[in-house]
Amino acid sequence: RHSKSPFIHTLFARQTQQALEYGLAEPAVDEFATALCAFFAEGGKGCNVTVPFKEQAFTLVDRLSPRAKRAGAVNTIKLTDDGVLLGDNTDGAGLVADLKAHGASLADSRILLLGAGGAARGALAPLLAEGPSELVIANRTQAKAEQLAAEFQDLGAIVAQTYEQLSGRFDLVINSTSASLQGDLPPLSPALIHGEIAIYDMMYGAADTPFIAWAKRHGARQTMDGLGMLVEQAAEAFTVWRGIRPGTKQVLRELKRNLGIL
Ligand code: ATR
Repeated sequence: RHSKSPFIHTLFARQTQQALEYGLAEPAVDEFATALCAFFAEGGKGCNVTVPFKEQAFTLVDRLSPRAKRAGAVNTIKLTDDGVLLGDNTDGAGLVADLKAHGASLADSRILLLGAGGAARGALAPLLAEGPSELVIANRTQAKAEQLAAEFQDLGAIVAQTYEQLSGRFDLVINSTSASLQGDLPPLSPALIHGEIAIYDMMYGAADTPFIAWAKRHGARQTMDGLGMLVEQAAEAFTVWRGIRPGTKQVLRELKRNLGIL
């Protein structure tokens, strides 16, 4: 109901001169499979899938991209010319693209990822592919962070720590928790925040997210919210469907204007 994807993809299509119609559907949780089949039976060529359906989509598609397999979730489906439903995941690539658009350097940096749910899982492979010196993952439920660290060990230097164990200097903190949905903050020590740190919150809103506001109060100067990630994951999905990569800068600006942020 609140999706900005029709707005974003309509702008991408206009920019790349593609004929595209992007609509919205909100099936009941137990009717997702039926709705997905109906969409493709009625001529749909591709779709995005959002919370809470990404894991269901993962089990329903015919084939998975390597990054969707790693993420354990599907946010983009494409009907290929030979009638195969291909499941992909563009969320992590969207995060990394947005971080780079902000000029954040990821190679050799020390990254702290907060949260160990679906959003964190989707981000891990693309982040580790950038070659950070270390990626520390912290979660309220420690076992979930440890599970993820073990699962992604083969892709780079990743360790799980409790919030209390966190220490030393981080270059980048990424908040993937859903804490702000309850108006809450991840239990991070303010001592970890310094003037040169980059703060990324996957959430976004018209005003600063609670996490960004907190980080600013404790001296963070570079803060980024998830609106850019939303546009970048969409650009990646558009590229999967159409083989053309749309530009994102202008679209992000128009989206902000549309949301009353600019
Ligand atoms: P998503 O798919 O958006 O990642 P999720 O799988 O429900 O959603 O995961 C939510 C994440 O936010 C989890 O890591 C959760 O921590 P737990 O695993 O301990 O539940 C984290 N989270 C949610 N509320 C939080 C809070 N108030 N403080 C800290 N972490 C929180």
